[in-house]
Amino acid sequence: SLSCRCHDLVGGLCDFNNGFLVNIQTLLNQRIQAAMVASGAADDAPALVRQSAKVQFGDYQANGIMGAAKKIGTNPREFAAKVLEQLDLSDVADKVEIAGPGFINIFLKNEWLGAALANLRDSDRLDVATVADPQTVVVDYSGPNLAKEMHVGHLRSTVIGDAVVRTLEFLGHNVVRQNHVGDWGTQFGMLLAYMERLREQNSEVSMALSDLESFYREAKICFDEDEAFSVRARELVVSLQSGDAECLKLWNEFIEVSLQHCEETYQMLGVSLARQDVKPESAYNDDLPKVISDLDAQGLIKEDQGAKCVFLEEFANKDGEITPIIVQKTGGGFLYATTDLAALRYRQSQLNADRVLYFVDARQSLHFQQIFTLSRKANFVKPDTSLEHMPFGTVMGSDGKPFKTRSGGVAKLSALLEEAQERAFQLVASKNPDMPEEQQRNIGRVVGVASVKYADLSKNRTSDYVFNWDNMLSFEGNTAPYLLYAYSRVASIVRRSEMDVANFKAAINVVEDQERALAVKLCQFEEAIQQVISDGMPHFLCAYLYELAGIFMSFYEACPILNAEDELKFSRLQLALNTASTLKQGLELLGIETLERM
Ligand code: ARG
Repeated sequence: SLSCRCHDLVGGLCDFNNGFLVNIQTLLNQRIQAAMVASGAADDAPALVRQSAKVQFGDYQANGIMGAAKKIGTNPREFAAKVLEQLDLSDVADKVEIAGPGFINIFLKNEWLGAALANLRDSDRLDVATVADPQTVVVDYSGPNLAKEMHVGHLRSTVIGDAVVRTLEFLGHNVVRQNHVGDWGTQFGMLLAYMERLREQNSEVSMALSDLESFYREAKICFDEDEAFSVRARELVVSLQSGDAECLKLWNEFIEVSLQHCEETYQMLGVSLARQDVKPESAYNDDLPKVISDLDAQGLIKEDQGAKCVFLEEFANKDGEITPIIVQKTGGGFLYATTDLAALRYRQSQLNADRVLYFVDARQSLHFQQIFTLSRKANFVKPDTSLEHMPFGTVMGSDGKPFKTRSGGVAKLSALLEEAQERAFQLVASKNPDMPEEQQRNIGRVVGVASVKYADLSKNRTSDYVFNWDNMLSFEGNTAPYLLYAYSRVASIVRRSEMDVANFKAAINVVEDQERALAVKLCQFEEAIQQVISDGMPHFLCAYLYELAGIFMSFYEACPILNAEDELKFSRLQLALNTASTLKQGLELLGIETLERM
């Protein structure tokens, strides 16, 4: 219903016409902007409401007054005073004041916070609204090359993409996952030739394929050292690309095994990618000649030394030289870029994307900017479709170079996750020596995987970060163990209360500073997840959960729960329950499992 539910708890507090949804920033933005317009500001003058950085500035501050005043040529403090006359926040705030050159500081009312939390309590989705106008968002992530096994370089795309996907879905968007795996190209000739050779020698191909890394290595050695082998490999590429049935059969066999390896890794990671999300490069084969002829018909193609190229002047350097997009090689072969053009056209025309997000390494930035610009020129996408490359940095070793295993090889993702689980198990076993091993193993599994994922998710994706076991497995700082431990602490308090928590429902009475701080933070969950979907940056949600856990710990130290008198105890227990559900929901959006005990 659209009626306001908070009246049950505190009389006459809210006048929302959209129901009571806890997004304080949106609420204040709307109200303050309306007051600004009523005071003479332009219709689109933004209120620029932000969470305040310091308690003395209140809980929120509006920074838009100065800009709006400047535009209409009035003194900002006088304008602020006028806005305050038009602004009635008495239901939400108990103090609204002008500060400095014309900031407006807002101090939220404790009763209002209590009412807002009652709504969080009663909602099965923490009172986060689903979007009124859902978009179709195509998310391109993971995309490993099937010639080899997934390695540490695929971690970022896979876990960051998945967190954004989960958050978009939570908000009600229509998400189409696209796992753009590399299953085509010249390496496959070499791999097929090696399969053939093993067969000729009556060796077990399936055995050899169980370790794709060494399979690739062995094949490469033959290719480099054996003339006849490399000739055969090249023949096989040609037959594969011309659709030779025998060759395709062999290739399918290889791809199937490789995809199974990926799926095992996704399962370990708890990533929501399934077989139906795989749309491999090869799926676009038949579209590639059409991409070329379309570009050609629009006069976009130039021949350069036999290759078909597109020169976009947007990409000229200061000497006027343009790095072209090569769409067809001399001899007819197509390229990575050609496939991406076909894929983007498919995403627009068949999947009806409103937004296409690419979680791909920063080193491919130029590639994507070129693909986006060309697709717009060639009308492969609608003008208002948003194309967003979400680049990320490299996972580094402690030596400052891209992360490698101790022996110097590329770090296989599955091996890395196994090591994480083992390390976490050792840690758990040493902390809880009396726990049954099965339980230690389960906790080790959850904590190990969570640590690797969280270490990645919690960093701003645009920078490189150093892979460090001790940091990611630490129980202190912004880490998975810290958050999982905080969650299990709350769960244990709730257990010890011996209340029937499933049916427990108490009013929250915000009195102490620590209760207040916790209440405000809990109301900011929706604001935190908005940043995940607008910028594709899960680290904002991580930072939020980390702060929330810290604020809970201070609250718990300062405000006894279980020893308090009934009404107080129920109120604080309800705060603890809300904290638990927010931590759990937040971690779930990040793709991280929680533990009731650890
Ligand atoms: N397979 C590519 C790689 O390993 C990533 C694919 C990214 N997606 C795309 N549409 N190009 O670099």
